Amino acid sequence: MARYAQIVGWGMYVPSEILTNDDLASVVDTSDDWIRARTGIVERRIAAPKETTATMAIRAAQAALRVANANPTRLDLIIVATATPDYPFPATACLVQDALGATKAGAFDLSAGCTSFVYALAVGSQMIISGAYDQVLVIGAETLSRIVNWTDRNTCVLFGDGAGAVLLQASAVPGGVLSAVLGADGSGGDLLMLPAGGSRHPASAETVAQGLHYVQMNGREIFRFATRVTARATRQALDEADVNLEDISLFISHQANGRIIQSAAKSLKLPPEKVFVNLDRYGNTSSASVPIALCEAIEQDRVKRDDHLVMVGFGAGLTWAAVVVKWGVPLPVPRPPRWTVVWRRARYRWAAVRSYLHRLGRRILSALIGLFVRNNGSG
Ligand code: ACO
Repeated sequence: MARYAQIVGWGMYVPSEILTNDDLASVVDTSDDWIRARTGIVERRIAAPKETTATMAIRAAQAALRVANANPTRLDLIIVATATPDYPFPATACLVQDALGATKAGAFDLSAGCTSFVYALAVGSQMIISGAYDQVLVIGAETLSRIVNWTDRNTCVLFGDGAGAVLLQASAVPGGVLSAVLGADGSGGDLLMLPAGGSRHPASAETVAQGLHYVQMNGREIFRFATRVTARATRQALDEADVNLEDISLFISHQANGRIIQSAAKSLKLPPEKVFVNLDRYGNTSSASVPIALCEAIEQDRVKRDDHLVMVGFGAGLTWAAVVVKWGVPLPVPRPPRWTVVWRRARYRWAAVRSYLHRLGRRILSALIGLFVRNNGSG
């Protein structure tokens, strides 16, 4: 029997702190007018000191599981799409897996610049369509405020923090993720990069002094690249899905720059009502931008059952990707019964206790082994 990967849950989280263009103008030589005119951004969210990519990913994931009324212990796989993981390792996805108590799930991070979420959606859906897995949680989460140079007006005005998640589920109902196109051109890797902190330039006092742990970008070149690939990847994904351009109900692009989105929409001859834009409120949240936009589109009643959506991304790598989705869930989704909310909350508490007990158990065991070895050695 044919299998399809349907999006059955979605959720987002953005930090409460808002940083406006005027706030930025008091820090660097810029203005609200310049930022609005060149990018379309008005404000962005900034993570609180205690918030990280994992904490925001967990909030978005919990919201997605709540919408789907899904049990975290049934998850087969968790993919966190991010360029700003909590650590180089362990993967942020493992932190999410632990917090959710997703005891059966595999977990890994996926890194393809701002395109990571669309890449992850392609990977997750194929895992389901192939028959390997039934439930895959795909999260896009970023804390870009931690890698932005707040004295560089070329980059600091663009980015924001946040997270979005979708739950993919195996279904016999035709639809879901119909096609995926992934692309890369590593020759443009130097156009947008975080130079230090990897094996080429390990973190040192020198790399810090030279500011090599901040985003470096050739804005003009990225702009040209993005306008080129966005419409092209969309057309390719539509061709693969055998869906006509006129049948697209909503075009959800990576929210980097309003002019890039407009240029792609113009090339695809899409009217404004079919183009989703929310970058004015969040800026470029990299891997989180597409799932956050999807959540807000659903909230604004701009998605209906059997609609065809396109989600398209571009970013560091250089990378680009597009997926076509036929929406399969009737909207609005009925509120889950109160007891399931309480039950899921209790499960997350238990997951935290379980994680603590595991760590404690490991510490006690290693202390006992140490004692045993010392005693035997001296004996
Ligand atoms: N405020 C005021 N002036 C500024 C600012 C600012 N914040 N930033 C740059 N300028 C100045 C520049 O210094 C330049 O001045 P100069 O001519 O005296 O040298 C002038 O404005 C024009 O600069 P441009 O780079 O030509 O401006 P442009 O119209 O290209 O806009 C921008 C710059 C907004 C960065 C644009 O190029 C862009 O959006 N590029 C794509 C960036 C992007 O999407 N990045 C994310 C990719 S996804 C990912 O993987 C993270």
